Amino acid sequence: MKCRVCRGAAVIDLPQHNANFCAEHFDRFCLEQVAKAIKKFKMFGPNDRLLVAVSGGKDSLAVWDILGRLGYAADGLYVGLGIGEYSDASGEATRAFATSRGLTLHEVDLRSEYGYNVPEGSRAAKRAPCSACGLSKRHIFDSVAREHDYDALITGHNLDDEAAVLFGNVLRWQTEYLGRQMPVLPAGNGFPRKVKPLVRLGEREMAAYCVLSGIEYQIDECPMAAGNKHLGYKEALNDIESKSPGAKFAFYFEYLAKAAEHFQATTESDRDSLEPCVNCGSPTPSGTCAFCRLVERATAPQPITMSPTRRRRSESGQPQ
Ligand code: AMP
Ligand code: FES
Ligand code: ZN
Ligand code: ZN
Repeated sequence: MKCRVCRGAAVIDLPQHNANFCAEHFDRFCLEQVAKAIKKFKMFGPNDRLLVAVSGGKDSLAVWDILGRLGYAADGLYVGLGIGEYSDASGEATRAFATSRGLTLHEVDLRSEYGYNVPEGSRAAKRAPCSACGLSKRHIFDSVAREHDYDALITGHNLDDEAAVLFGNVLRWQTEYLGRQMPVLPAGNGFPRKVKPLVRLGEREMAAYCVLSGIEYQIDECPMAAGNKHLGYKEALNDIESKSPGAKFAFYFEYLAKAAEHFQATTESDRDSLEPCVNCGSPTPSGTCAFCRLVERATAPQPITMSPTRRRRSESGQPQ
């Protein structure tokens, strides 16, 4: 296996690009793909204030690293979700990365700032963990970006993530979500601009980038993700990709080129009709926003559950 550029020994094959690369040229390839996405989708310029949402996983650490190498100064934001040891290790990986490079990192701990963590919030609000987690993260990303006046909020979503979400939305023709599925969502109505510079790179490339660059990331998957529909969509797409290399890339980028614009009007009108949440001021369709409702339920006093022995004693009037 030889590098497409220098004919030296290749360390990675990328069938979707019909190419193999040595470590040096793979590194250059990753930087070029990110630079290309930033330019093509007009994500941001050198004077924009950038905030990267960093989970401690491979994608967000890689995007933070690549942006710095491309000459963009970006600060980080880590949200402590309180998912046991998984969150502890994620926070440590993020802090270690920021410290080693002298980067500014904002941290918001869900439990200390809002009184609940993801497992508690999801139980109390009877929402799937990923739904409580996503809602909390989105609210915090928006409010930190607004509070510190950042121009763009960057996430580490990669091609596999975007193709899987698109697949799910197309399966059910969820047109209101399809319009939001862009690598750039413009700022407006209280939301910062949202950008995804890794859309041209897949999960496998991002893991290889981190390993070859010596970036230590949180390898474990979130323990609450089991049953998440998107994992199934990713598997299905990987299966298709293995038989038809490049299918994932074409599915997503041909959608952007040929179909996305048809769904944007719905999204824009949805956004324009939002009003400030009566409690926190975040944009919402009406009244109290979904995040404030989640906080209210997650922090409401829970009914005390008694053990069967205690219950029997109390029912029979025995002193406890
Ligand atoms: P996920 O929704 O876990 O696939 O993550 C998608 C993107 O959201 C990541 O690439 C990060 O940019 C961001 N993100 C996820 N979890 C966190 C977190 N705990 N703190 C900050 N950003 C996060
Ligand atoms: Fe869904 Fe962690 S709660 S991935
Ligand atoms: Zn080479
Ligand atoms: Zn609110």
